[in-house]
Order: sequence, then structure tokens, then C-alpha cells
Amino acid sequence: MKRRDFLASAVALAACSPVPPGVARNISRYGLAQHARRSGRHFGAAVKSRLLREDAAFRAAVARECDMVVQEYELKRGTTEPKPGKYDFSGADQIVDFAQEHGMLARGHALVWYAANPPWLEPALDAANEKTRQQLMTSYIDVAMRRYAGRIGEWDVVNEAVEPNEGRADGMRMGSMWMKALGEHYIDIAFHKARDTDEKATLFLTDFGLEHDSPRCERRRTALLKLLDRLMGRGVPIDAVGIQGHLKPYKERFNERQLADFLRMLSGYGLKLSITEFDVADRGGPPSPDKRDREVASVAKAFLDVALDNPAMGSILCWGLSDRYSWLSNFPEYKWPGGQLSRGLPLDAKMDRKPLWDAIAAAFDSAPAMRSASA
Ligand code: XIL
Repeated sequence: MKRRDFLASAVALAACSPVPPGVARNISRYGLAQHARRSGRHFGAAVKSRLLREDAAFRAAVARECDMVVQEYELKRGTTEPKPGKYDFSGADQIVDFAQEHGMLARGHALVWYAANPPWLEPALDAANEKTRQQLMTSYIDVAMRRYAGRIGEWDVVNEAVEPNEGRADGMRMGSMWMKALGEHYIDIAFHKARDTDEKATLFLTDFGLEHDSPRCERRRTALLKLLDRLMGRGVPIDAVGIQGHLKPYKERFNERQLADFLRMLSGYGLKLSITEFDVADRGGPPSPDKRDREVASVAKAFLDVALDNPAMGSILCWGLSDRYSWLSNFPEYKWPGGQLSRGLPLDAKMDRKPLWDAIAAAFDSAPAMRSASA
């Protein structure tokens, strides 16, 4: 048989073979990163260094599916600076090394956040004068960005700056230690410092609760847009907005037009976009895992289709890769009783691809090309 005939008959055989879809998707050599690349994009996941070290199947899955990684917690200051000025970057180093060994990109998460800080930091801020208060924030930007210059290409500089539920008229998160210590200008100072420290890095403002058709998300979208208006008006060097993308389809509705409009407003500022922490909380869904998987996949496809339709949308990163290790399984609001695992990530607990994997691959396959960096 000639090679071409052989290929033709193999394709015909595959088309009528009784291989169930789950098996078919699991034998494809193409990972999600390959699907992303078709439109010039990237696919990545949040990882923990211990899992890369100790779980060979997880490590292989990350290598197969991703061309970008981010630390799930190992660049948060509570981990890296347990004592003032005494740093431990061992976990983040391993993740960045892994990325380099595999030719992947790395993101940095997160330089300035109200949460996951070391216990010494807030009392130190309370006791400091204005100049020292700024230094208590910028010192970390300086140390972390310098350490990874040229190896981490994009940074979540400020994470979760808005929280209208806290009651301020402008929707800023007033409980944040940075807001209390420096006012809204902490964001300006952080981005200017980040730009000065690594002028090549892409600088992100990231937030959650922007995805759904609910009063909660509407308030959060409005607060973020108003904040961006002020920041862009002051010339703050923000390059990109990260939509975290923690979907909760069994609690809140999703409206395609509304999300598309919001993303268009963001990209209208000339900002790049990414989905930086995608997953789907399945708590509250039907008891049958198969049915739930199909529903989760369908809402993910609807969301990602809208996201990828915006030419400014670059990377999609999941918050984890396999249900074996999803943070959702331990998060009080989303976790199932009785230790049942959440099923909100593209691979199941056995590292097999799920309908959610198909949905992400299909969304990438049908995505229009992204806007090039120079456009
Ligand atoms: C989460 C991690 O996944 C957990 O392991 C940790 O206990 C708490 O933080 N938004 C963010 C992430 O920006 O940093 C959070 O990560 C999830 C919500």
C-alpha cells in the first residue's frame, strides 16, 4: 500500500471507528498549547513545585498540555519573605527552571496583593512613615522582578484591587493593607516601580468576579473600569488586564453579549487581555459526574468563545491542570461534602482529558487570530 493510501484508509478507519470520544481525545498528541498556537496564543496552568517534583504523571501532563506556567502560591510574599528581607525563592525557582527546561513561558503571581502576605508586614506598615510604607511595598517588586528578569515575562503587579462590597463609593478594596497605608496611589507606585525594574516585562492588573451576569459582577466590572479610567488618565504603565475567570455557573448566570462588551471596553484602552486563573466551580451541579462534565464544558466553551473572539486576548491559563489537585476541592464555598473532588479543570483526577479539555481545544481551534503585539 502506498503511504498516501495508507493514510487515507487510516483516516477513514478513525472516522468510523467505535473509539469513544474520551479515548480519542486521550490519544491525541496535541496538547492545549498546540491548539492555542494556531491563533498565536498560549495555554498554561498554575502549578506547585512539589507536584512537579513528586508526581511524574502531573509533571508529564503539564509538559504535554502547557507552554506557560504560573506559580499557584510560590511567588506570594507570605511564602517568599517569611522574615523582613529574608527571602526564600526555592519553590518559584524550580517552577521557572521547569519552564525553561521545557521551552515554556512563565508568569509571576503576584507582587502586590492584600492577601497571602507574611504576618510581620501589616504591623510594619502600621508603624512606618510614608516613605518607608512605600518601600515596604516596592522592595518586593524590586527583589522579585530583578531575580527573574528575562525569565518571567509577565507579572501580576497588583491583584484584586477592587471590592465594591466593602462599601467605598469608588468600589476600591478598602480593607487592603496597601489601600489603608498609601491610598489608591499604591497602584500607581507599584506599576511605575515594576516598569522601572524590568522595562521588558508585561505588567498586569488582575481581578476576579468580572465574568457573570449578576449584580455582584456588574458592580465589580464598573469599579474596575472606573479604576482603569483614573489609572490610564494618570499615565500609569499598565499593559494588560487579567480576568481571573473562576466561573460559578451554578450560582450565577452568564451572558455572552455582556462579557464581550466588557472585554471590548478593556481592550479599547489599548490593553492586552488574558484569562489568568480559569476553572469552573461545579458545586451545585447535577449529581451525575458525566452530566456535570458536559454542562461545565458547555459553559466553558461559551465563555472562552467570547474571550477569544477579542483580538486583544492572549493567553488562557487554568488555575491548576488536573482535578487531582484543584484548589476548588478545598475552598469552603465550592467544595463538595464527603471529600468528593471538584471537576473544574481540563484533566480528571487520573490525568485523563475531560469534556472541559475538548471545550478549551475547540475554543482555541475556532478562535480568530489575536492582535499582534505591534498592532
Ligand atoms: C489560591 C491557591 O490556589 C490556594 O492554594 C491558596 O490556598 C489560596 O490562593 N485568586 C488568586 C489566587 O489570585 O492567588 C488564589 O490562589 C485563587 C484566587
